[in-house]
Amino acid sequence: MCGIFGIVKEHEGPLGETLVGAARRLAYRGYDSVGCATIDASGKIDLRKDVGKIDEVNERLNFNEMRGQRGIVQLRWATFGSPSQENAQPHLDSDGDLVGVHNGNIVNHVSLRDRFLAEGMTVRSANDGESIVHAVEHYVDRGETMVDAIRAAAQDLQGDYALIIASNDVTGSDGALHAVKSGSGLVVGIADGATCVSSDLPSILPITNKIIRLQDGEMVSLWPDRIELRRLSDGEIIEREPEVFTEGMEAAEKGGYAHFMEKEIHEQPKAAAELIHWLSASPFVPQFLDALSSARHLYFVGCGTSYHACMIGAAYFNRIANIPASPVLAPQFTETLAPILTSDDAVVFVSQSGETKDVLNALKVVRPTGAKILGVLNVIGSALMHLSDHYLPLACGYEISVPATKTFLNQVVLFLYLADKLRVHGAKIDWDEIPEIIERTLVSTKEVAREAANILNPYDEMYYLGYGLTLGVAMEGALKLKEITYAHCEGMLSSEFKHGPLSAVHDGYPILFVTAPDDAAMMVNHINEVACRGGRPIAIACEDGLLRKHVREYIPLPDVGQEIATLVAVLPLQLISYHMSIERGIDPDFPRNLSKTLTVD
Ligand code: F6R
Repeated sequence: MCGIFGIVKEHEGPLGETLVGAARRLAYRGYDSVGCATIDASGKIDLRKDVGKIDEVNERLNFNEMRGQRGIVQLRWATFGSPSQENAQPHLDSDGDLVGVHNGNIVNHVSLRDRFLAEGMTVRSANDGESIVHAVEHYVDRGETMVDAIRAAAQDLQGDYALIIASNDVTGSDGALHAVKSGSGLVVGIADGATCVSSDLPSILPITNKIIRLQDGEMVSLWPDRIELRRLSDGEIIEREPEVFTEGMEAAEKGGYAHFMEKEIHEQPKAAAELIHWLSASPFVPQFLDALSSARHLYFVGCGTSYHACMIGAAYFNRIANIPASPVLAPQFTETLAPILTSDDAVVFVSQSGETKDVLNALKVVRPTGAKILGVLNVIGSALMHLSDHYLPLACGYEISVPATKTFLNQVVLFLYLADKLRVHGAKIDWDEIPEIIERTLVSTKEVAREAANILNPYDEMYYLGYGLTLGVAMEGALKLKEITYAHCEGMLSSEFKHGPLSAVHDGYPILFVTAPDDAAMMVNHINEVACRGGRPIAIACEDGLLRKHVREYIPLPDVGQEIATLVAVLPLQLISYHMSIERGIDPDFPRNLSKTLTVD
């Protein structure tokens, strides 16, 4: 997830160290390249950027020596265009008069880029951030002021983003930094003799704690001694008093949540919206779909949480797209299936980090078979990205907490999206509705999930049961519980429970059933087997009178169909694990013995 920061000072002077300091404060969001631009009092722009970590790029390019009155820094987390010097931000317009950065995705950047080239502009990179500069350039060249040009350009830019842009014109009302919020976060800081703007608070707090939060659809112009906030739509000035932020830096990084896990759980509606936007505009999706639909057999290969997403993904492809697809754990795939692949098959490797050794081992044995290698990953620039014939990003930004939450949800969103594109059974999904359904599920299950966590907390071993599509969800919920509560929880097929584990049931023993609507009648049989032996069944399901009659506790999902219920059912399971972890005094972000990226066999 990129980060942006800009500052305007009263007097020209050393700005480099301030920009590097701000970049360090934004680094927790994750990035692969970094760039700074300063503008001095005469309007001269100094721009330096490259791939790498802040300190190593600073050592090479000496950001520290940069001087000016206005400065911008950007940390880039690649989604459009690989991590490279030319794709790094900031970007210049054709003549080097404007300099700008963005955070987020400009989803129509491919068509905008064609338009800019047709207009004779100089486009230097494959990065969507360059589009914001040319979009403003288009209107400035037609004589608009910076403010009007930015307002007009914002109409042309589609996606969720925030931007900062400045012109080298130091006359008239310019000499300002301008920023827009349209879907991504943006906060303004007001200090003595300086103002600044950033993606979030940690980079502002060392400078000032007087802040103004922008809303979507607003822009701000900053001078050293004042700011002007206005609505993008009609240019109307907005009066908003600054607030004084009194909490510490750590609270600022966690965006007001107690832990990164809680923050990342609540980021899911937004992360899904960004992914859906991205997929709907990406030229990579048709290539990926071609490879999927022409395969004789599809294998979905991953480990841990990513494997659970593979289970759901393969089931979506079987049921929705009529394509034979099997989920396989990566090491097992290496040992048993890879040797029998042919060039007619395709393997979808799924990994948040893109660096999991078990996954890369499996990929290595697939290469000589000629089967297509497709990657689904969150970390752009990872080994999996480079080794895949085609790849799709999860577009989640940085996931800090060790337990995967938003990356799992976006893996499932991505598989459902692709299966929906190849659909032969059932009705097409209205993708505009999905982020709101995710948000609604988080809100409506919040309290019941906390109550369920209280019921489960006294137990140190338990079962989560799923059926059909929801088996992968039950297994993912169980993994989340094991990871951050240190209790044992087995996720399994509800119909298998009677073949042995049923003997664990005793008076009051809680068992959680994750059910999609079409499976409710079958699940009632499995619930009864537990209930009649004194067990305490808890259901996670869309509203169903019959199910409700047979369980003690009910965690209701919104009234959505089979496919979407499967997608959102993981949300209360994430919340249950989180609450139990806190109750047990465990830090869910850093559970013992675990690491976010497993580069060992
Ligand atoms: C669980 C978790 C792990 C990872 C697994 C694979 O919350 O994060 O189970 O899912 O180690 O990692 P990636 O997806 O990076 O290949």
